[in-house]
Amino acid sequence: MTFRFPPEFLWGAATSAHQIEGSLDADGRGESVWDVFARRPGAIEGGGDGSLASDSYRRWADDVELIAGLGLNAYRFSVGWSRIVPDGRGRVEKRGLDHYERLVDALLDRGVTPVLTLNHWDMPQALMAGGGWVARSSVDAFAEFTTAVADRLADRVEWWVTQNEPWIIALLGYQLGLHAPGIRDLGASVAAGHHVMLAHGAGADVLRAHRGVRAGVALSLFPCDPATPSAEDAAAAWGSDGYVNRWYLDPLAGRGYPDDMREHYERALGRELTEIRDGDEAAIAGRSDFLGVNYYTRRVMAAAPAGDARPFPWQVAGPSGDVARTDEGWEIAPDSFRDLLLRLHRDYPFPLLVTENGGVFGDAPLHDGRVRDTRRQSFLRGHVRAMGEAMAAGADVRGYLHWSLLDNFEWSLGYRPRFGLVHVDYPSGRRTVKDSGRLYARMIAAGTADV
Ligand code: NOJ
Repeated sequence: MTFRFPPEFLWGAATSAHQIEGSLDADGRGESVWDVFARRPGAIEGGGDGSLASDSYRRWADDVELIAGLGLNAYRFSVGWSRIVPDGRGRVEKRGLDHYERLVDALLDRGVTPVLTLNHWDMPQALMAGGGWVARSSVDAFAEFTTAVADRLADRVEWWVTQNEPWIIALLGYQLGLHAPGIRDLGASVAAGHHVMLAHGAGADVLRAHRGVRAGVALSLFPCDPATPSAEDAAAAWGSDGYVNRWYLDPLAGRGYPDDMREHYERALGRELTEIRDGDEAAIAGRSDFLGVNYYTRRVMAAAPAGDARPFPWQVAGPSGDVARTDEGWEIAPDSFRDLLLRLHRDYPFPLLVTENGGVFGDAPLHDGRVRDTRRQSFLRGHVRAMGEAMAAGADVRGYLHWSLLDNFEWSLGYRPRFGLVHVDYPSGRRTVKDSGRLYARMIAAGTADV
């Protein structure tokens, strides 16, 4: 069955400041945690950093033309935090705000709806003096940043994403140390994740004081399936779901942090979660006008062997067998995307905005200049179809933002993984629309995946 998307559906692509902008010294920008982390030997595959990236701080006007040329009616980007509050607190850098105002105005001129992310992982380094997200004062620092950006842009920008992927910040930034700021401490990661969620609440309060603004948070959601039908693996999948998904979804929906996962954390840490104070869960609840869904793949889970050293009694087991994968090895699972959207529709009462979905496929221009990225095309079609199936079954999805508009700096993996609908030749900055970008344009024009 061909699903026809409604005419007001938001079709777009997503990026983030540190991944595309470069120009790290321009216009009074302060250092971010990623500037410092990238200097650690071995932190970034290939030894790169964000100093050039896709050169979008300088080429933003070209990017707007690309967006308009593809017929996108939405664009998700982030505001570099340390461009606006270079010292973390206090002084606001007007030149940074001017830049994003120009971008927003150009998008609106071309009929493109901006979806503005506030924290896409580039906290000002100055805030690390107090502990970064581990410190409760980070919530106030984020609220100040939100105020500065909202005072300039809330009259024009309707869709605001306060925080991008709280779980990934906590996991990679503070538990495993694979992302900035490179901390490896489970207790610190719980505090950091909680403060990111509190900051969503505080930021949403600032934003919603402006008329016509919608505030949401983008969660990295991974459906968790058991590796076998055993009761042990079912418990592992549910536990993992608590760790990855419910820990963030439940408090946003007003249910507080889930008890089962709280017990897992308390057992692993040997203490109570005192960072979660009375009243905190109420300050996270009821502050989301939509839920941002970042979906890439699913997790296939098994019970961890007895006596295992990991903090929780589950482990990633699969998928097993010959499944389709991206060049990063992630299973391509559009059915899980459909099921996720339906689960959210059933269990969590938010309008949904797909804030990210995409895959790594390494195709480059051929002799004739074309990028024939056939696997990204089938990825895109498969996931848009799956989304249409979920919507036909009732899911309230307002838009789809493919990750990413451009090939860009993929954090600790450097420049190797390519996620773009548009190829970037990094040395020259040259952009080439891939065949997937052309297909997306046709799908958008037709309002269906079946073109
Ligand atoms: C999630 C993050 O929000 C984004 O920054 C990243 O590049 C993509 N996933 C792909 O890993």
